[in-house]
This record gives sequence, structure tokens and C-alpha cells, in this order.
Amino acid sequence: MSIKKTFFPPEFIEKYKAMLGEEWPAFYSAIQEKRPKSFWVNTNKATIDEVKASLTKKGIKFTQLPFHEQAFLIEYERPSELDEYVTGKISLQEKASMLPVVALAPKKTDYVFDTCAAPGMKTIQLSNLAGSVLATDVHSKRMDILMSIRKRFGLDNVAVKRIDFRNVKRNKKFDRVLLDAPCSSEGVVRKKREALLEWSEKMVRQKAANQKQMITHAFDYLKEGGEMIYSTCSFAPEENEEVVQYLLRARKTARVIPIELEGIKMRKNELCEGCVRLYPQDNNTQQFFLVKIKKTPKGVFD
Ligand SMILES: C[S@@+](CC[C@H](N)C(=O)[O-])C[C@H]1O[C@@H](n2cnc3c(N)ncnc32)[C@H](O)[C@@H]1O
Repeated sequence: MSIKKTFFPPEFIEKYKAMLGEEWPAFYSAIQEKRPKSFWVNTNKATIDEVKASLTKKGIKFTQLPFHEQAFLIEYERPSELDEYVTGKISLQEKASMLPVVALAPKKTDYVFDTCAAPGMKTIQLSNLAGSVLATDVHSKRMDILMSIRKRFGLDNVAVKRIDFRNVKRNKKFDRVLLDAPCSSEGVVRKKREALLEWSEKMVRQKAANQKQMITHAFDYLKEGGEMIYSTCSFAPEENEEVVQYLLRARKTARVIPIELEGIKMRKNELCEGCVRLYPQDNNTQQFFLVKIKKTPKGVFD
């Protein structure tokens, strides 16, 4: 369904007005604005300098983002028509959505589990930065997109499997895990005016129950000393801080560790130290949540 004006359920407005207090007007205004366009250079297909040179030749304006050398803002109405995109040299990705992989910071020797991977925007980043990647998703249509992205973006170090990641059976554990969790998708409202048509408190509670199950499964796939990122584009504490607190109670070796992102304003989180909420008005992004968790060796803190 396509609608002319962004739709906000009254319950949504009430909830965030109360939660955000004096921040609410700036938050509400920011989530009604169009998001800036940004891209990630897919170094499987081109170098950063090659992409910069070809865009400059076409007179297209772009600006490097401070948090990663492969991340750029672009001033161009239809970047999906650019040859650089069609041939897989750049992927089009919202700024906040790039941050989970940047914060995960995999090394070239790391084996990474991208548990909820489709359509695959973060899989492209992981393919560039990590050694090898297992990417799973349960949704068949989204998996088709992931398969075509794998081919077009040259993700040769990525193994793709359509499965509920909680049913993956592997003895081998991972150096890094990404759980970009299915959520109430509040952040999508800056892209799709109708994104909140189905939103309800009941939906938030259902998502939260599922996320609690998922975060413990994801954590269990980590090697000792390994690190994971949990992220959502929701602002609901039920889907974020409460999920993290659930994991910390369920797994004694789980610790929240700090995230540093150059040029991104992050506020102190009163509900969960180290958890990061990105307010859309701070960095001109969608609303977003991320947290980095380490699996500490047994006995270190207990
Ligand atoms: C936020 S989206 C992921 C976006 C993706 N990481 C990206 O950057 O393109 C969440 C994904 O989780 C998938 N999903 C939901 N439940 C799952 C499960 N149990 N196992 C694997 N994938 C699941 C959905 O199909 C959806 O594609």
C-alpha cells in the first residue's frame, strides 16, 4: 500500500512522547524526513580510489563518512541507476545500517556468522572485511535476493544457507557473530511512509520474545573470546536493552563491551551501560540500536 503522508499509530506516538520527553519533537520531526543517500564501496569489485574517480568523472558529489573509509554520502537522485551500483562496485546502504559491521570490526582471519542475513547489505560488508562468512536467513524470497547479491557483488568467501539459524548444526564456533535481528522495523519509516501500519505493542512484545531466544542462540555460536553485535532498527527498550539484559542473566560469560564509532554521536544509555541508541536527530540516520557483546573465558569474572 502506498500512502501520501507518513503514518504513525497513536500508541506509537504516546509511547515515544512519554519515553523521549523533551527529545520527542526533534525525534518526531527527524523520522518524517527523507534519509540522506549513502553507499559502501564493495572492495571485492573495485578499489575506493576507482569508485571515487569514476563518480568524480561523472560530476557526482560524494563525501567520505568518518567512521569507515568505505562509507560515503552521495548527492544523486537515483543512485540505483548508476553503473557503479549495477555492476556491484558500490552497494546502497543507509548510514546507521552500516554501523553493526563497522563496530563488529572483523579481521581478515575471522570466520563470521551472519545469522539473519537477507537481503545481504551487511553480508557485503562482512565479505569485504572478514576471512569467511556463513550467511543464513529463513525467508525464501529474501534469500533469493541474497543469492543474487552474492553473485553480483562477488561474495566468494560467503556460504549461504536458507535455514532458521537456530537449527544450524555445527561443531565449529565463530570468531564473530552478527545478529541483525528481525524487529518491529520502526527505523524503516524514514524510507517507507507505511512502515508502521502494522505496528502495535503486541507486535513489539512478540518480536521481543523471539529476539530473546535468538540472542542466546547467537551467543552460543561464539568461540571463547569471540564478539558479537546485536542490532535492531527499533527504539523499543523491550526489543533492545531488555533483550541484552535477558542474555546477561542467561549466559554468565556474556559481557557488554564499549563501541567506538568515529564521527557518530552516541549518548549515555541509562538502561544498559554500553548499549548504543542512535537518535535520528543526532546523526541524520534512521533510529537504531546496537550493542557489542564478548564471550569471556569461563571463570574470569565469576
Ligand atoms: C533486519 S533483517 C536483516 C537485514 C540484513 N542483515 C541486511 O543487512 O541486509 C532481519 C532478517 O531476519 C530474518 N529472520 C527472521 N527469523 C530468522 C531465523 N529464525 N533465522 C534466520 N533468519 C531469520 C528475516 O527473514 C530478515 O531477513
